[in-house]
Amino acid sequence: MASNSVSTSVIKRLPRYYRFLGELMLAGTTRISSRELSEKTGLTASQIRQDFNCFGGFGQQGYGYNVAELHNEIGKILGVDKRYGTILIGAGNLGKAMATHMNFEKRGIKLLGIFDSNRSIVGEKVADITISHTDDLDKFCSENQPIIAILCIPKTSAQEIADRLVKLGIKAFWNFSHYDLRPAYSGIIVENVHLGDSLMTLAYGVNNNLNL
Ligand code: NAI
Repeated sequence: MASNSVSTSVIKRLPRYYRFLGELMLAGTTRISSRELSEKTGLTASQIRQDFNCFGGFGQQGYGYNVAELHNEIGKILGVDKRYGTILIGAGNLGKAMATHMNFEKRGIKLLGIFDSNRSIVGEKVADITISHTDDLDKFCSENQPIIAILCIPKTSAQEIADRLVKLGIKAFWNFSHYDLRPAYSGIIVENVHLGDSLMTLAYGVNNNLNL
């Protein structure tokens, strides 16, 4: 199932489908039509059919979609059936909240280690993982080979730590620092997250009475 040619907007809708389908499975729903899925997701039925057609369909005329199968297939496309070794840098308020509440394993992520430069919190436990000092990153990365890093550090530290992590084999960043890493690295996957952007989109919606 080739996903290289699929548009970014389709890919960005897949986690939403995956989440809703997971909820339907928990509720005991075994099959669903694109119309019912449309009511749940707020997307149009034709949009949903088009999206699924990009990956070869999944549905059957007159039957709809098998919820468990569709959930499983979308999960595979997203890669949540994998266990990507991941480290989290910056165990402050945000880092601790992420480590505790993100339910990483359900999303294809295996959180292996948490690091901070502040010695006074090194040794504390978060989500059953002991916070290590960033001095120990080289040894840890060579032993455990993580490929994803979650950056929950201030903007001022982001570039330096990212440079170091790329040299240690990190291939992808989930970047919460307000520093845009993308231009600096070719061949490295970066997802910059700015919750403030989402809030401003909401403000625009309120200003214009629009649900975006
Ligand atoms: P915090 O001050 O509670 O925690 C930051 C942690 O990073 C501290 O434990 C500090 O010791 C550590 N740190 C600093 N430099 C480091 C380095 N070079 N290596 C390893 N650890 C380092 O701050 P908080 O609230 O957790 O926020 C973290 C950052 O995330 C802030 O810069 C904040 O602006 C940003 N943020 C971004 C959001 C987003 O939507 N992208 C949302 C909320 C916060």
